[in-house]
Amino acid sequence: MYELLTGIIFYISIGVCVVGMIIRTALYFRGLAWNLDRVAYKAFPKQGFQGAVRSIYKWLLPFGTHGWRKQPFMTVIFFSFHLGAVLVPLCLLAHNIFLEEKLGFHLITMPNLLADFLSWVAVISAVFIVLRRIALPEVRILTTWYDYLIIAISVAPFITGLLARYEVGDYSFWLIAHIVSGEILLLAIPFTKLSHVFLFFASRAQLGMDYGIKRGGLKGTKMAW
Ligand code: HEM
Ligand code: HEM
Repeated sequence: MYELLTGIIFYISIGVCVVGMIIRTALYFRGLAWNLDRVAYKAFPKQGFQGAVRSIYKWLLPFGTHGWRKQPFMTVIFFSFHLGAVLVPLCLLAHNIFLEEKLGFHLITMPNLLADFLSWVAVISAVFIVLRRIALPEVRILTTWYDYLIIAISVAPFITGLLARYEVGDYSFWLIAHIVSGEILLLAIPFTKLSHVFLFFASRAQLGMDYGIKRGGLKGTKMAW
């Protein structure tokens, strides 16, 4: 089982994730309307670029946007979750040893103590993310089982990773469960709203360009929009 999961199934999962991300990003940009979007973006590349960078930067900054400032508690929860969700899979020592063995390269690693801390914070934050969907009527009305499924897929590698790490019960069981849940997450990324992992940058860039050029960005000029 371990051989299979860390062999062919691992290569398929990572391959589908990377190729899927490239295809979906290309489709996103191909989907822009030439008359509504491209014509303005092409005419004002500098303003567009500045708007794109500004939008991505502000959204990646805790409390950087009005939306983030309006609900400070939820902002802290979302950023706490994402710190672990982005850094632990990429920088965990065990993952990088695995990556070196399978793909011949590794990324920077973080101390295990920090990985433990970020993982616990991610799990606790996920509990609050679920509670938000249950408790707030304006979020509950928009929530379906699909939203809970996505949260479950996102948090399962953290729970199983921690259970394996602390060797709770049967280590090899939790390690297998962990690898399965990690691979499910990788496979889900291009096909579900988890595609925001990379499409976040595409849609923020596009909206940033929009605001930088059309929606008030060129106020006071002869720009027709
Ligand atoms: C896809 C293949 C993956 C493989 C082969 C893999 C492998 C491993 C291994 C070998 C460990 C160490 C267990 C130990 O301490 O003995 C581990 C820990 C962990 N992994 Fe993964 N992993 C994968 C994906 C993921 C993903 C996608 C995430 C998160 C989104 C994740 C989060 C974690 C966490 C939170 C720990 C425990 C960290 C700690 O507190 O030290 N893993 N993983
Ligand atoms: C650079 C990478 C990422 C960025 C920029 C990003 C950004 C965001 C943003 C802006 C939101 C919406 C917050 C809101 O509703 O106000 C969000 C939600 C979410 N993200 Fe990410 N994300 C990233 C990576 C990830 C990863 C790797 C995972 C999973 C391991 C993940 C799981 C989630 C989940 C589950 C939600 C929805 C929470 C809910 O149900 O409300 N994200 N993300």
